[in-house]
Amino acid sequence: MPSTQSIVVLATAANLFHAAAEEFISTARTAIGAQGRFTVALAGGSTPKGLYSLLASNYGNFAWNRVFLFFGDERHVPPTDPESNYRMANESLIAKISIPAENVFRVPAENPDAAAAALNYENDLRRFFELKPQQFPRFDLILLGLGPDGHTASLFPDSPALEEQSRLVVANWVAKFNAYRITFTFPVLNRAAEVMFLTCGADKADMVRQVLETKTTPPLPSQRVQPSDGKLLWMLDEAAAAKLKR
Ligand code: 6PG
Repeated sequence: MPSTQSIVVLATAANLFHAAAEEFISTARTAIGAQGRFTVALAGGSTPKGLYSLLASNYGNFAWNRVFLFFGDERHVPPTDPESNYRMANESLIAKISIPAENVFRVPAENPDAAAAALNYENDLRRFFELKPQQFPRFDLILLGLGPDGHTASLFPDSPALEEQSRLVVANWVAKFNAYRITFTFPVLNRAAEVMFLTCGADKADMVRQVLETKTTPPLPSQRVQPSDGKLLWMLDEAAAAKLKR
């Protein structure tokens, strides 16, 4: 179980992004103060764009040289592809801040062999975190989104990666997209010091209620994100939280 779980509801998406930016920066300051660096895995999709743009505009002079950026998942496309999570993060944040290139760990998703791309990324994590064979990395912060089917990162319902317990990063076949995605596994997500879900919009309200207020069998992927020794934070706007009992 997470050491703490909290749900924060903000009036609007704009308020949500401001609150999320403050949480990101305060978590980063704490980590840098304690260990001289901040390791964070970015979420993909469209929601986090609002947070990333705000970080670039309001915190441009932050100590980005102490920040190490990773990606919790990536589509199996080149970094220039409109579908690329890296492209989205680069356009909204990375290209706008003074972060050293060597501090940004992009998934090599241009590799036509998705499994090789996943293994290469896993080896990047092993090297960076100086992991022993059975060890998992402990990110200071992992950002996640909630998909309409309850997926998170690229851990989709009924997909093979849900049961992976030893790998850090895998290529996950997503039947509904007829494509591979490259994704962190649950052991990595659940080892984080903090996981922050960012979810906004009325279209997510049903799934938010299902994830946070119902017992689903089997559990939805987003319900399985339970950092064993970390903080679980759900940041919602009113629209996404509208169907919660509260
Ligand atoms: C991705 C994300 C995925 C995303 C959710 C929510 O690569 O798409 O990792 O898990 O967070 O699908 O996406 P939106 O923010 O676009 O609603």
